Amino acid sequence: MDWIDHLKSKFIVFDGPDGSGKSTQIEKFLTLQKDHDLDIFVTREPGGTSIGEDIRNVLLDPTNSEMSTQTEMLLFMAARAQLIQEKIKPKLSQGYCVLSDRFVSSTIAYQGTAGKMPLLDIMAVSQVVTGGCSPDLTIVFDVDYDTSTRRIDGHDRIEGKGREYHERVRSSFLGQAKMWPDSYIVIDASRDPDTIFKDLCDELSKSLSSQ
Ligand code: TYD
Repeated sequence: MDWIDHLKSKFIVFDGPDGSGKSTQIEKFLTLQKDHDLDIFVTREPGGTSIGEDIRNVLLDPTNSEMSTQTEMLLFMAARAQLIQEKIKPKLSQGYCVLSDRFVSSTIAYQGTAGKMPLLDIMAVSQVVTGGCSPDLTIVFDVDYDTSTRRIDGHDRIEGKGREYHERVRSSFLGQAKMWPDSYIVIDASRDPDTIFKDLCDELSKSLSSQ
């Protein structure tokens, strides 16, 4: 059996610092459906549902500068709760491979490590929201701050938080991968998109064949 066939009913998350090139890799990942009996459903966080997109606008609006980290965390989680119920669970049970652009790993990195909220608080809310619907694999596209800022415009509220915050975000993703090595894969995303994608396929193939 080809490793691509193992993607059926799998929940995969692409995550990483802003400007890590996730969107390009998502486009490439979708080409795996060609010539295979595989349907991939892509969604993004925050958003992915009509309610979630409304929450996204509140979260990313630069004029909401007074938003507390607690509010931020709960809004990301609220959008996620809706996405899981409305999209992720039904699609997984229909046999789709669900690919989410960000998930709980982002809340741990941004509101947790960078925003200084305790990990246990985030995990407690996450338990309520996900009800055990957790990713089979989280892919971290790792990129340093200087490379990532060259790739983005930095104009939404989170992107504008500065170097120190974003360096903590990056180290959190790497720390999560060390803490949960069985379900995380780190890919060096500072390279060109084709090399990154080849590496991604090699790593997915290794990991899915051994699951
Ligand atoms: P988006 O424009 O989707 O950025 P990207 O293309 O890099 O994913 O904006 C999402 C922003 O929200 C991004 O800066 C990461 C941040 N974020 C959190 O702070 N916490 C979270 O739980 C999630 C899902 C995203």
